Amino acid sequence: MRTEIAPNILTVDDDPHVLRSLRAALESHGYRVRAATSGAIALEACTAERPDVVLLDLALPGMDGVEVCRRLRDWSRVPILVLSARVHEQQKVQALDAGAEIIVAQGTEAGGHGGSRGTLPLVPALVDLMARRAPQAMVVAAGGIADGRGLAAALALGAEGVLVGTRFYATVESLGHDKAKARILATSGDATVRTTVFDTVRGYRWPDGITGRALRNDFTARWHSREPELAAELEDEKLRYQAAAARGDVDTVVVFAGECTDLIDDVPPAGEIVARLVREAERALAVATGCVV
Ligand SMILES: Cc1cc2nc3c(=O)[nH]c(=O)nc-3n(C[C@H](O)[C@H](O)[C@H](O)COP(=O)(O)O)c2cc1C
Repeated sequence: MRTEIAPNILTVDDDPHVLRSLRAALESHGYRVRAATSGAIALEACTAERPDVVLLDLALPGMDGVEVCRRLRDWSRVPILVLSARVHEQQKVQALDAGAEIIVAQGTEAGGHGGSRGTLPLVPALVDLMARRAPQAMVVAAGGIADGRGLAAALALGAEGVLVGTRFYATVESLGHDKAKARILATSGDATVRTTVFDTVRGYRWPDGITGRALRNDFTARWHSREPELAAELEDEKLRYQAAAARGDVDTVVVFAGECTDLIDDVPPAGEIVARLVREAERALAVATGCVV
């Protein structure tokens, strides 16, 4: 009997919540996962354990992700996938120069953290930039892609693949709360907002210009655009927020979700989403080809 050893993935992020979700998701697919919370720990883990792939956040405290790439590339060819909310082209080029191989071009429509550029112009701009500066790199599109039409559009823009977030939140396998999944099904893209108030109350500091897109709820109604007032009442609000989180109260706690919520109306297994995306994209591309005369 042949015994196959599962690939070993090193995840590098300073946020324990991110590491926990990545571990759960990857282990459920049979991968072995090692987590590192800083660049120094990541480099040690690479030396000791020789991972097959490194998933690396750029925004690390102390030694940042670009420096980790650079040091790793001195002696290793391990594939490095950069997971980053940094949007400035120069930072992506730095990461590539330092040895990253896949860049995610994520537009502002996306759920979770990111910047203010739209997916439609951002993806071809980064595709062109990478063609000039790092032709070996793969550009993957993200932000607003929830069905095969989005996949087809991303391919037409020059991306080689897509990264899909919100659509997979509403799946059987997702670790999201059932109430959060139900709310995603019930709302439209208009019911999302880019905000910093959830980061403030949870005690996270993101780089300037980075906000998180989430569903609007009572908490955003009260505090969004009122950061100074929130700061003044932060200690009380933190306690209220933690209590709401413990009871799964989605009227108060964050549900990260993108503008594509309009396109989500069921909670199927994740594999079905992948099959649908491919089937629908083939159809969309065939229709689009027929429109070109
Ligand atoms: C609920 C949720 C949590 C997310 N958490 C993270 C995260 O911890 N780290 C990260 O790099 N991106 C995170 N993202 C962003 C996704 O990885 C992905 O880039 C984004 O969702 C793509 O846009 P879409 O939501 O329009 O598909 C999150 C997205 C969602 C919806």
